[in-house]
Amino acid sequence: MSHFSYKNGALHAENLPLSEIARQFGSPTYVYSRAALVENFSAYADACRANGRDDKSALVCYSVKSNSNLAVLNLLGSLGSGFDIVSGGELLRVIAAGGDPRKVIFSGVGKSADEMRLALSHDILCFNVESTAELRRLNEVAGEMGKQAPVSLRVNPNVDAKTHPYISTGLRENKFGIAYEEALDAYRTAAALPHIRVAGIDCHIGSQLLDDAPLLEALERLIELIDRLEKEGIVIHHLDIGGGIGITYDQDKPVAVGDYLSRLFARIDTWRRLSYAGKPIQVMFEPGRSIVGNAGILLTRVEYLKHGAAKNFAIVDAAMNDLMRPAMYEAWHGVQPVQQRADGARVYDIVGPVCESGDWLARERSLAIEQGDLLAIMSAGAYGMTMSSNYNTRGRAAEVMVDGDRAHLIRKREDAGALFALESVLPRG
Ligand code: LLP
Repeated sequence: MSHFSYKNGALHAENLPLSEIARQFGSPTYVYSRAALVENFSAYADACRANGRDDKSALVCYSVKSNSNLAVLNLLGSLGSGFDIVSGGELLRVIAAGGDPRKVIFSGVGKSADEMRLALSHDILCFNVESTAELRRLNEVAGEMGKQAPVSLRVNPNVDAKTHPYISTGLRENKFGIAYEEALDAYRTAAALPHIRVAGIDCHIGSQLLDDAPLLEALERLIELIDRLEKEGIVIHHLDIGGGIGITYDQDKPVAVGDYLSRLFARIDTWRRLSYAGKPIQVMFEPGRSIVGNAGILLTRVEYLKHGAAKNFAIVDAAMNDLMRPAMYEAWHGVQPVQQRADGARVYDIVGPVCESGDWLARERSLAIEQGDLLAIMSAGAYGMTMSSNYNTRGRAAEVMVDGDRAHLIRKREDAGALFALESVLPRG
């Protein structure tokens, strides 16, 4: 169910008119629905329970990069979520939000020694290691600290996720993970390193997947590998299948999370009966977009309408620096007027004030709008605010979370002064 819907021609977030949010907090503003976040997280948690898993045998580690606002992390943490991070900064966010570092897994191809130290000092659950060079560095850092680092190797199962090439990560030519053919050797190396403890195996094949077939194919590859490792005496305690389930932006029909998880758990259960004699393996997920994507919109105001012979433009106060996805991936986001008008629809390109032709949010949309109207850019909860920048010295948008009929400001609008506060001019003379 959508938590952004029209009531008497006015678009609401839960029970609050978006016009009221613009009145209170201005625009552009990211608006999130608390109920939508709870519902989307629960789809994972409920499916784990329905398939006989408890908090120990399945763990959802929300992918922080998709939306890292403290209020979002705090809410998901309170629902029992763990966290998938990709930087020391994200770990500090999780901790600041009250999240449990012992439920944190650390992904990413380029972890620095400092980041490793920080994560080890907080006793995170696992490092998802992406190369043998990284294994060696982690072994050294853990050794200096007198610790053993829990490790999972990110294996590249070489399956085609059939998604946008920029967000497809499971193919041999991607920079991510350890090639499937090299994984056995990498595990042997890991098992022999004194300050490394082999804990699990992971993969992540891409994002915005509509079908779960590639994920189930990746699972098969991981199962094969776990069986081979076990024969060598290397025991894998958890299997992390990554994130990747897509959402509806336009006509997309993503697989239901519950259906995907049922198929995944069913396969794991038959396999365990066959080869693990009922020994439990913890299952982990790293979803981002499917939890926050449709739980957020970007609220923006029409500054000017420009009607031309070739095109009509609606110039709005949000821009590519606020929402990069259209400029970067030609991503499609729905655009809905906050107050519906009966007539006067024309076809518009929705563009921002930034000085780039690539600064567009949507193209060729039929809209009945006037200067000063508010628009909602839909499905903007994931990879919206987190990918925003200060290009053109534009302060980042405010963020608001709606709970029922109440709006909470969860990030203030950035003011220009803060944008150059860290800069200085050369000394005179
Ligand atoms: N785990 C790992 C290791 C990842 O690299 C990612 C996303 C996730 C989990 C979460 O994937 P999700 O469930 O959100 O699909 N900026 C792009 C998406 C980049 C995805 C990067 N990795 C976009 O706006 O579409």
